[in-house]
Amino acid sequence: MAEKFKIIGGESLKGEVSIGGAKNAVLKLLAATILVKGSTKIYNVPQLTDVDIMLNVLSDLGAKYIYNKDEKSVVVDADSITSITAKYELVSKMRASFIILGALMSRCREAIVALPGGCAIGERRVDFHIKGLEALGAKIKIENGYVHAKASKLIGTDIYLDIPSVGATENLMLAAVTAEGSTRIQNAAQEPEIIDLANFLNTLGADISGAGTSEIVINGVKQEHLHPAEYTTIPDRIEAGTYMAAVVATRGKAIIKNVYPAHLTFFNDKLIKMGASIKLVEPTTIEVSCRNKLNSINFVTQPYPGFPTDLQAIAMTLLTTANGVGIITESLYENRFMQVPDLRRMGADIHQDRNHAIIKGVKNLTGATVVASDLRAGAALVIAGLMANGETIVEKLHHVDRGYEAFEHKLSNLGAKIKRFNDTDNTIQNSGMVDIRGIL
Ligand code: EPU
Repeated sequence: MAEKFKIIGGESLKGEVSIGGAKNAVLKLLAATILVKGSTKIYNVPQLTDVDIMLNVLSDLGAKYIYNKDEKSVVVDADSITSITAKYELVSKMRASFIILGALMSRCREAIVALPGGCAIGERRVDFHIKGLEALGAKIKIENGYVHAKASKLIGTDIYLDIPSVGATENLMLAAVTAEGSTRIQNAAQEPEIIDLANFLNTLGADISGAGTSEIVINGVKQEHLHPAEYTTIPDRIEAGTYMAAVVATRGKAIIKNVYPAHLTFFNDKLIKMGASIKLVEPTTIEVSCRNKLNSINFVTQPYPGFPTDLQAIAMTLLTTANGVGIITESLYENRFMQVPDLRRMGADIHQDRNHAIIKGVKNLTGATVVASDLRAGAALVIAGLMANGETIVEKLHHVDRGYEAFEHKLSNLGAKIKRFNDTDNTIQNSGMVDIRGIL
């Protein structure tokens, strides 16, 4: 049943919120568990539909898992891998499943993985993943929508990435863990999630250095050298940035726990320039507040440590009611302004020309029915709803559930008026029998 949020805007968010484990790290860690024979335990695993999909991918390969949602831990037993195929049904639901390609190559030297295809935000090619694997010695055939990669052995080499692709860096790191000799990935992605994957793999016995810089060196180790381990993933910097923006958007004041401020330097700086106050309370706790109308800013999305594309839509929402004019350039994806038509429906004044958006601050947004077209656009519309006068309905919540654990609960705890409902409730509401405002 299609679920929606109903939001009554205008409440200043106050209180405390704790950030969960990083989706974009934990998905890769889960894929990496199949490198090891035996049981590996990961802590700080958020409860997200994307995590469920990755667990299904692992289970299809023959791995067994125990997902303890109370403890937020997952144990994966990859003692026996009985299949080398990641089906289209799963990869098409979540592109990150494609990361299993490198992991299977490391463990089995053969993999059949569905090509993910494009998605709402852009073409999202995987050519660097393929070329990198070929450079390591894999023979690759693309047939019937699947990548079939095979190698009698993988041999370390130098690989230069045209773009510092996160997924390609991770897939190649995984494949190179058990290659013969050293692999050097140049122009590698430097995201914190890359460091987390390297740290995890090293905990399992891999020999990786340079993660977090543009050159990563993977000295191949023998498969038998790898061993099970326990590991805790990093906090989700995009979830943290989302709550920071929500507090600033509603002129609130809140404590945000379990955040690594160093992972958000660029974003913090932009929020401060807009007029927010961000204080470090403890090494992993910050206090965010904002009293005044925001100032406009300009920014270009860039690979880490630049402004994160995953916070672009959310920052755009802040600009809709800021003083002056802000300009955003989206440099990573061809189509990541999906939120624009919906923000306009809420009263925003946005002019878009290809990958540039010019946002002229208006006095206020007004509530409307809007559609979450992808994960981050969905979060941006939720924040717009919190800022807007009146009532906002955000549809297609399955996108939001991919990356925000207990979103409405965490926001409600901060004082937001937000409620999840489904089509049945909606029918009742439309028939005028129940005013859903009463249940908020
Ligand atoms: N690209 C290519 N060829 C390739 C690989 C990438 O042309 O072989 C292009 C892509 O088309 C894209 C750009 O390079 O335009 C960046 O893609 P990248 O590979 O870095 O991204 P990704 O690994 O597919 C991860 C995150 C995204 C995040 C990007 C950039 C995961 C599961 N996803 O995607 O997160 O936007 O890095 O930081 O880690 C999200 O969480 O909402 C999300 C989309």
